[in-house]
Amino acid sequence: MENDSMITVALGKGRLAKKAMECFERIGISCDEMKEPDTRKLIFENNEKGYRFFLAKSPDVPTYVEYGAADIGIVGEDTILEEGRTVHEVLDLHFGKCRMCIAGPESAESLFNGNSMIKVATKYPRIAKDYFYNKKNRTVEIIKLNGSVELAPIVGLSDLICDIVETGTTLFENGLKIYDTVCPLSARMIVNQVSMKMKRERIDSLIKAWKELEE
Ligand code: PRP
Repeated sequence: MENDSMITVALGKGRLAKKAMECFERIGISCDEMKEPDTRKLIFENNEKGYRFFLAKSPDVPTYVEYGAADIGIVGEDTILEEGRTVHEVLDLHFGKCRMCIAGPESAESLFNGNSMIKVATKYPRIAKDYFYNKKNRTVEIIKLNGSVELAPIVGLSDLICDIVETGTTLFENGLKIYDTVCPLSARMIVNQVSMKMKRERIDSLIKAWKELEE
C-alpha cells in the first residue's frame, strides 16, 4: 500500500499499547513484529491491511496526532486533558480505567480543607491547576514531577499530590490517603482533524469494529 493511504497509529508506550494491540489483533489487524521482546524498531507495519504503528511516550501521542504525523492515537484521557491538543476524541476504549485523585498524608487534612498556600506535586500541572483554581477556588503552588509522585509528600517536597490511582496500592503502601477524586479516566482513541475527513471511511470502519468488540 502507498504510504499516504496507510493509517498511522501512535500508541502510548506501556500497558495501554499492549492492550490496544490485543484489540487490533481481535479485529484482524495484527502486527507480529511488534511482539518481539528485544526489538529496537520504532515503526511496525501491516502492509496488507494498510496499518502502521509506532510507540511514543504518552504525552507525545496527542502531539503526533494534532500535527497529522499519526492519523490515530491511543492514549489515556489523563494525557489528553493535560496536553490540551486539538484532536478529535472518538472513542472511550473502556480499558486502562483509573482516576485522577488528590492525595496526601493523614496530617494534610487541615491543609486540604483550609485556605493557606499549599504545595501540590504532580505530573499533571494543568489538571491540578484546573482542579484547585476552578473547582476549589484557591491558589496553590504546583510542583511538576516526572514520576513516583507519591514520594513528594513523604520527603517533604509537597503537602499533597495530584496523581493517578488505579488499585490504590501505591498510596496505601506509602501511608497516603485520597482527599478527593478529580475525575475518572480511561484509554481513548483520538483522531487527527484532517484524517477524520480525508480517511473518513477507513477510520469509521475501524471505530465500528472496535465498538463491536465491546458487544
Ligand atoms: C502510576 C501512578 C501511580 C500508580 C498508581 O504510576 O502515577 O504512581 O501508577 O497505581 P496503583 O493505584 O495501582 O498503585 P506509574 O506506574 O505509571 O509510574 P510513575 O510513578 O513513574 O509515573
